[in-house]
Amino acid sequence: MTTKKRVFSGIQPSGNIHLGNYLGAVKNWVAGQDEKENFFCVVDLHSITVPQDPVELRFQTRALAAMLLAAGIDPKKSTLFVQSHVTVHAEGCWLLNCVTPLGWLQRMTQFKDKSAKQASVGVGLLDYPVLQAADILLYDAHEVPVGEDQKQHVELARDIAQRFNHIYEEEFFIIPEPKIPPTGARLMGLDDPTAKMSKSLAHVRGHAVRLLDDPKEIMRSFKKAVTDSGNEIRFSDDPEKAGVNNLLGIYKAVTGKSNADVEADFANARGYGDLKVGVAEVVIDFLAPLQARYQALMDDPAELDRILAIGAEQAAAVSQPKLREMKEMMGLVLPVSGNR
Ligand code: TRP
Repeated sequence: MTTKKRVFSGIQPSGNIHLGNYLGAVKNWVAGQDEKENFFCVVDLHSITVPQDPVELRFQTRALAAMLLAAGIDPKKSTLFVQSHVTVHAEGCWLLNCVTPLGWLQRMTQFKDKSAKQASVGVGLLDYPVLQAADILLYDAHEVPVGEDQKQHVELARDIAQRFNHIYEEEFFIIPEPKIPPTGARLMGLDDPTAKMSKSLAHVRGHAVRLLDDPKEIMRSFKKAVTDSGNEIRFSDDPEKAGVNNLLGIYKAVTGKSNADVEADFANARGYGDLKVGVAEVVIDFLAPLQARYQALMDDPAELDRILAIGAEQAAAVSQPKLREMKEMMGLVLPVSGNR
């Protein structure tokens, strides 16, 4: 029996993972692998709530899994799996749908934003947070590391859990806590240092450093980074110096140095040009081994599939019995054979 706290993280296989995602989230996940029992789920069922190109989605799902492994998610310590491989997520979602008031879903900020942008809104988009609740609750997860934008969905998962517990059995579901990473590691756009580095803008040239960018591209993005008209290389919260502050922040996050040491490294710089090249160089060196591991996994699909199959089995070993208990409580007749 493990006494470690359980953590459930869901990551959408859409968009391009960038350095901000890595430093703000993935790095913490990698570091927390010994301390807690982690489930990392590539949430492909969530991605299809808005239109997807099937070929692209299939590629991105495998690419994200490979990227997480390359970044240091260790399948011997953590469970990494693809959501649609463990069918109880969709089934659990159905059961939870039946205790979730429609009004709760209509109030979700993300639903309102996304549905306003779609010509035709699928039911799946409305149901998205219930699927997310199923992801979390089926694993008895205590903690859910998410960005600020997902806090409302984790709160909804808490409400659904409480409602289910109240109707069927007190304390059946663990009430999960959202864990928002400290904003210290927040990277800003290189082209606009007043706005957060964003996954949905990661395709825009010069906005983000994507984890798979080649050295030339990285150098180009940094060279074009927005700074100010001065020449002082120091940390600062002056909005005027947001660009320089962001570059120093990236250097600091990648090297792990203190503010004073970071500033000392640029004490002899001749201007922002030197700063940009210096930051680009540490980022390039930092990403090179990760990119090599990623490529090796993408070149060996059988190995990647094997890892994901083991992950799906481990995930199902936890979530299937939980689903079975839910069904039993709700009055469904369980089949006599099989473990479902
Ligand atoms: N909705 C989350 C996002 O867009 C992804 C997600 C799906 C998730 N299921 C989850 C996150 C469960 C945490 C836990 O980022």
